[in-house]
Amino acid sequence: MVKAVVLGAAGGIGQPLSLLLKINPLITELGLYDIVNTPGVAADLSHIATPAKVAGYLPPDDGLKKVLTGAELVVIPAGVPRKPGMTRDQLFSINAGIVKSLATGIAEYAPKAFVLVISNPVNSTVPIVAEVFKKYEGVYDPKRIFGVTTLDVIRASTFVAESNGTPGASADVVVPVVGGHSGVTIVPLLSQSSPALETPSGETPDAFTSRVAALVKRIQFGGDEVVKAKDGAGSATLSMAYAGAEFASKLLRAINGEKGIVTPSFVALPDGGKALAEELKTLAVQANYNEELATLEYFSSNITLGPQGVDKIHPIGKVSDEEAKLVVAAVPELATNITTGVTYIAEAE
Ligand code: NAD
Ligand code: LMR
Repeated sequence: MVKAVVLGAAGGIGQPLSLLLKINPLITELGLYDIVNTPGVAADLSHIATPAKVAGYLPPDDGLKKVLTGAELVVIPAGVPRKPGMTRDQLFSINAGIVKSLATGIAEYAPKAFVLVISNPVNSTVPIVAEVFKKYEGVYDPKRIFGVTTLDVIRASTFVAESNGTPGASADVVVPVVGGHSGVTIVPLLSQSSPALETPSGETPDAFTSRVAALVKRIQFGGDEVVKAKDGAGSATLSMAYAGAEFASKLLRAINGEKGIVTPSFVALPDGGKALAEELKTLAVQANYNEELATLEYFSSNITLGPQGVDKIHPIGKVSDEEAKLVVAAVPELATNITTGVTYIAEAE
């Protein structure tokens, strides 16, 4: 018996995500909240013959309190999307306030819920949720707050399978993507791809190297590819809904006791980032980087999911020299993004 809630349920991501959650057999109740249109979305979905009972809520009449009461899983795709030429950071001025108000509602009405943050910039909105929760006695639990980076993982699987000449097998390709969720902070570890990225006979080492570099760029800037193609009508919605539903499904299976579910997510590091800092030092040597790196308190890497949420955070592991450079290059922007989120809440008083 799980009540799942979507905050921002009438939007481009919210609607297809709500559809996918409605057909998840592990969800028995689905609450939809937005500032507009949720009664219509809920009425529409409620005709689908799956177990989840659906209801839509709007801000009047304590809608946020009603939707969140009893929720165990809350997904947040509320907020504005990018237009061509924008960075995700340029969404911060609007989305930070939206995420802060929704996080406040979760802290008050669903303090034990697992929270999946989709709203951009994820590298900053996840720290916002954490900092809001820290203000409430007994609410903050780093094991329960997830920045959803699954779309990067799905893009990596799709593009690697295409590059291997086996596009139909993309669902079987697993590529860890570490760092964060924006541009250079997205670091696909193609050297750890399973199955491996193939080298067709006759491909020179130089040609392989430039194919890998092009793949990395495409995964890092996959979001821009969609923003450009949508030409002002927003960013990825359908692939994101799929990604959000996939992450939610993995988490629900883990909560239900299924073992061995491993997937990347952007989370707070329980030791304040000490273990990662040690690993980054080694990677900096590998990358011939001599400057001091910031300590990151949040990072995306493979996580084993369990009944409490984050069960184990995996190290980055063995990477190529090029990948070591990419990880090191992601650190300054990640540090700035994290500080932006933390400072926003500290200064909000
Ligand atoms: P959208 O504009 O289509 O939908 C956003 C919805 O949020 C709208 O229905 C809006 O009414 C609602 N909303 C705004 N303020 C709200 C509030 N205070 N409470 C509840 N609902 C509120 O946008 P979209 O395309 O669905 O994208 C949503 C967000 O997801 C954007 O920030 C986008 O950048 C982000 N995104 C993240 C990823 C990722 O990989 N994490 C991928 C794609 C998009
Ligand atoms: C994505 O990666 O598609 C999302 O973060 C949306 C965006 O702004 O690109």
